[in-house]
Amino acid sequence: MTDTPPLPDEVPFMRTIKSYVLRAGRTTTGQAKAYETWGPHYLLNYRPEPLDAPAVFGRVAPVILEIGFGMGEATAHIASVRPGDNFLCCEVHEPGVGALLKRIGEQGLTNIRILRHDAVEVLEHMLPEASLDGVHIFFPDPWHKSRHHKRRLIQPPLVAKLATRLKPGGYLHCATDWEPYAQQMLEVLGAEPLLHNTAPSYAPKPDYRPLTKFEKRGLRLGHGVWDLVFQRR
Ligand SMILES: C[S@@+](CC[C@H](N)C(=O)[O-])C[C@H]1O[C@@H](n2cnc3c(N)ncnc32)[C@H](O)[C@@H]1O
Repeated sequence: MTDTPPLPDEVPFMRTIKSYVLRAGRTTTGQAKAYETWGPHYLLNYRPEPLDAPAVFGRVAPVILEIGFGMGEATAHIASVRPGDNFLCCEVHEPGVGALLKRIGEQGLTNIRILRHDAVEVLEHMLPEASLDGVHIFFPDPWHKSRHHKRRLIQPPLVAKLATRLKPGGYLHCATDWEPYAQQMLEVLGAEPLLHNTAPSYAPKPDYRPLTKFEKRGLRLGHGVWDLVFQRR
């Protein structure tokens, strides 16, 4: 008789702690079609070498990295209201990537490129120091249980790395609907010497970030949302 396999966070030989678990999710026919039609134009391959942003976007423009765009609702909106910026968007969830490709096709967006890969590795191996004008991390997985807090993205080592990848004056915008995580964000970002807070504490929601369906529902139920906008010195 064999033992029950260990849960992912208990696997003893895991190389690094990941901020995500690859969920089984169904890719719809529309998403699969979007992969086929738009994937060759907008999907980038992960390669552990510096990204040539002007070459992949076909122009020189400010580059904003988004970590974990989910189904891409906010991403597509922001790309449409900020046509002068290039958005480099990372997500590991296949249906989400398909969903964003579908939005790109439907809305004719040309300023998004997608990397279906762990953003932590992208940051480490593809993005040189001072290469980013901004970073968006919206509603990162809150990992509610304390034994899972180590999986949260916003922790000192990652924030230190992010800060070095920002250009001086570049910004880091995070949002969460989980108050204890918002407090952790405020503490961790506030302690990073390369960053300063653009607001006295939490920031007003910048206009470019839309209220997504999920967020509207939360707000109707009386839940809070916290935005944080820090800038590299
Ligand atoms: C809770 S969802 C939020 C999605 C979206 N930002 C929104 O506001 O709806 C967090 C997403 O981050 C993705 N994610 C977590 N860690 C990641 C990583 N290291 N690299 C890329 N994506 C990641 C997950 O797959 C998930 O889709």
